[in-house]
Amino acid sequence: MTNYFDLTGKIALITGGGRGMGREMAQAFAEHGADVIIASRKLDVLNAAAAEIAESTGRRVVARQCHVGEWDQVTALVESVYEEFGHIDVLVNNAGMSPLYPSLSEVSEKLWQKVIDVNLTGPFRMSALVGERMQAGEGGSIINVSSTSSIRPGKAEVPYAAAKSAINSLTTGLAQTLGPNVRVNCLMPGPFRTDISDAWDWDAIERMLRPTPMKRVGEAHEIVGAALLLASDAGSYINGSIIRVDGGVTGVVTGG
Ligand SMILES: NC(=O)c1ccc[n+]([C@@H]2O[C@H](COP(=O)([O-])OP(=O)(O)OC[C@H]3O[C@@H](n4cnc5c(N)ncnc54)[C@H](OP(=O)(O)O)[C@@H]3O)[C@@H](O)[C@H]2O)c1
Repeated sequence: MTNYFDLTGKIALITGGGRGMGREMAQAFAEHGADVIIASRKLDVLNAAAAEIAESTGRRVVARQCHVGEWDQVTALVESVYEEFGHIDVLVNNAGMSPLYPSLSEVSEKLWQKVIDVNLTGPFRMSALVGERMQAGEGGSIINVSSTSSIRPGKAEVPYAAAKSAINSLTTGLAQTLGPNVRVNCLMPGPFRTDISDAWDWDAIERMLRPTPMKRVGEAHEIVGAALLLASDAGSYINGSIIRVDGGVTGVVTGG
């Protein structure tokens, strides 16, 4: 029987792979046969996650420090991965952040720029460098991670939602540019319980979710099915798509 989800022999680079949904994707990709590089700022967290995933799957899992909002650090990360592994078959632009702010006018230029740099500039630079090499080589799959706030922004996440909206458009544009052998798709999560949601007002969230079909937030592992689909041959004709993973929520759900 063909296992369309098999990732044996593949190399996957996942930003923000040390915790939350990124970590779940790293675990799942390794369980399906990939060697995985997880990259973010906190090397201790990454090292611990890499050791646990390697131990439980028998795959090679390595940690790399990188602030994805820093153009030069992204370049250095990509160069070092190609040097060490020779190819990247799956890139997941998962790292992201949505800082709370007191009011629109109190959003500083620095905060605005950081939100754009981490959530948009990093994924662009990463995709440009990896995508062109994939295209010139054996092809691959790029998975961006946006948010349902990109199409239904809440009042406490305006800069973040704008950056995530641009991720949707980046996905479409990159899919046009990097074919025929590189697929570029996007996961669009709704509300998930991860560290990002630690600061949320959970009473308000529960009220907002009451009229929704599943009446609950997603758990981090519930991103994995869609991620595996896009990463593997199971999704071989899925390109330029944006897949909502939100339990069927149709309105604004915002934690801020
Ligand atoms: N949770 C939700 O409800 C939700 C909803 C919609 C979309 N999303 C999106 O889903 C993705 C994963 O979110 P999550 O909920 O799993 O978040 P999380 O648990 O808070 O994890 C965020 C990850 O991003 C990394 N990161 C943050 N800033 C970074 C930077 N400057 N450079 C490199 N890595 C950085 C973090 O690692 P370090 O701290 O080590 O850098 C961490 O691994 C994000 O893009 C997020 O916007 C989440």
